[in-house]
Amino acid sequence: MRILFLNGPNLNMLGLREPGIYGSITLGDIGDAIQTQANKAGVEINFRQSNHEGELITWIQESREQFDFIVLNAGAYTHTSIALRDAISASETPTLEIHLSNVHAREGFRHTSIIAPVCVGQISGFGEDSYYLALDACIRLGKAD
Ligand code: DQA
Repeated sequence: MRILFLNGPNLNMLGLREPGIYGSITLGDIGDAIQTQANKAGVEINFRQSNHEGELITWIQESREQFDFIVLNAGAYTHTSIALRDAISASETPTLEIHLSNVHAREGFRHTSIIAPVCVGQISGFGEDSYYLALDACIRLGKAD
């Protein structure tokens, strides 16, 4: 099984960025920990981040033949990007939406996810564990196939 972990804008700032909301762990640390877990499970992962909507869209499009699942923390694009949503639909790669923070317990503009209707489901509010839970969910969904 191959899983593409995609991280959107400002997630490269984890560790420095609003630690009261996002914690003090860096994205690099999360990527390393997910890689270790994936190795144990015999799963191949690719862990990427971009601040650019178009780059994320290209990666989602390219996932079509290359990955079984996408785990997507789209950052603020979650709430704004019809283009990301269309890319997920077009790719037909099953996509899990994740967030470190509980977006539903925050500002009103974070309560709407434009991508949610085209995702398998949403994991939100578990900090770095949102990434582990998404990896586990992919493995379980993959077995159910
Ligand atoms: C986030 C939540 C978004 O609302 C925010 O814009 C982010 C991070 C999260 O992981 O909690 O950049 O996706």
